[in-house]
Amino acid sequence: MSNIIDVHISLQQQYQITIGQQLTESFKAYCEAHYNRSNIFVLIDENVNRLHRDRVEKLVQDFRSIHFIEIPEGESSKSVRVWDNLVNEILETGIERSTPILAVGGGVTGDLAGFVAATVLRGVPLIHMPTTLLAMVDSSIGGKTGVNHSTGKNLIGSFYQPHAVFSDIAFLETLEQKEWITGMAEILKYAAIRNPELFNEMEELIHQPLTPRQRWVQVVEESARIKSDIVEEDAHEAGKRAYLNFGHTFGHALEKVSGYGEVTHGEAVFVGMIAASHLSQELGHPVSDARFSPFLSLYKKQISSLSVNIEELLEAMKSDKKVKNNTIRLVLLNEWGSPYLYNCKDLSLLRQSWEYALDKFND
Ligand SMILES: NC(=O)c1ccc[n+]([C@@H]2O[C@H](COP(=O)([O-])OP(=O)(O)OC[C@H]3O[C@@H](n4cnc5c(N)ncnc54)[C@H](O)[C@@H]3O)[C@@H](O)[C@H]2O)c1
Repeated sequence: MSNIIDVHISLQQQYQITIGQQLTESFKAYCEAHYNRSNIFVLIDENVNRLHRDRVEKLVQDFRSIHFIEIPEGESSKSVRVWDNLVNEILETGIERSTPILAVGGGVTGDLAGFVAATVLRGVPLIHMPTTLLAMVDSSIGGKTGVNHSTGKNLIGSFYQPHAVFSDIAFLETLEQKEWITGMAEILKYAAIRNPELFNEMEELIHQPLTPRQRWVQVVEESARIKSDIVEEDAHEAGKRAYLNFGHTFGHALEKVSGYGEVTHGEAVFVGMIAASHLSQELGHPVSDARFSPFLSLYKKQISSLSVNIEELLEAMKSDKKVKNNTIRLVLLNEWGSPYLYNCKDLSLLRQSWEYALDKFND
């Protein structure tokens, strides 16, 4: 059983996201229809390679020449050095403009392999096969590819849309709890900015990862649909795509001040969403952060163990690359499901929102 989302970036750029369980047959049918199946490069995360190699080999077995290249796990693989090594290996092996690159892994593998596909021979077909919850609901959709630079994350890259995305829920069986939590924060973000019904659905699902599989397929599908709708409206981040940053301006500051790696991106975004909801409420909008209460326990242990200084958090927010004229641009909510951009100059409002949000984890 699979569900399909059509993504229309422009008349020239359209692709399908297929979401379901056991997608081998639909993947093979897609390849038969679109490629001559002489050659394929599979760029695969090292843990996924260890845990799911058989599954992935079955997917590509109809290609005559198959090249697996393992990507070491972790953010440090998103580097110019690793990109350079991959490009060398691929060019030395031999690739044509029509040869697809299949990216199998989480956001790290997807962003890196996407940038390789965007740059080798000025662009070869890219197929995403996301294997983390975050990659299924977020990073595989929207065409952002790239690597990090010593001066900051994701500073080198390009917008490059995939030819197709296949999200097979079966991969999630082996996902560690902290990766579930990271993906869930992004789903809660979609609940906040577009579909509050997702809050109720997630509340029922959090304690049973993957048990009611069909319901997880639906949650992933709804999240992917929200992301792709927003990307369709604003592929190059000129306007509405900024709504996807709900909770992220606060969250990035927390990641930076606590020292990268101390909190996961998802944990930081979760705190950030509470701060942003509280600020929205302070400005008169009816968005009680009680919506997040059922999920607090998932994030509590890690956040309560942090010792962060609120003044440092404010400094980090001020030094964010998106800050102009000392005005911090935030995504806030008119009501649940209705985001807007707010230019904040009043640091005391931010200070109070931080105090409120961090306090939630210290009860
Ligand atoms: N392109 C975008 O629009 C976009 C959006 C959000 C995030 N990102 C990027 O995504 C990255 C984070 O992605 P992520 O959270 O998926 O992290 P990740 O790719 O590092 O994967 C997390 C961990 O899960 C492991 N893993 C992957 N699939 C697994 C599976 N099925 N079973 C067991 N383990 C598995 C990986 O080996 C890794 O250790 C960041 O670099 C971030 O910048 C990009």
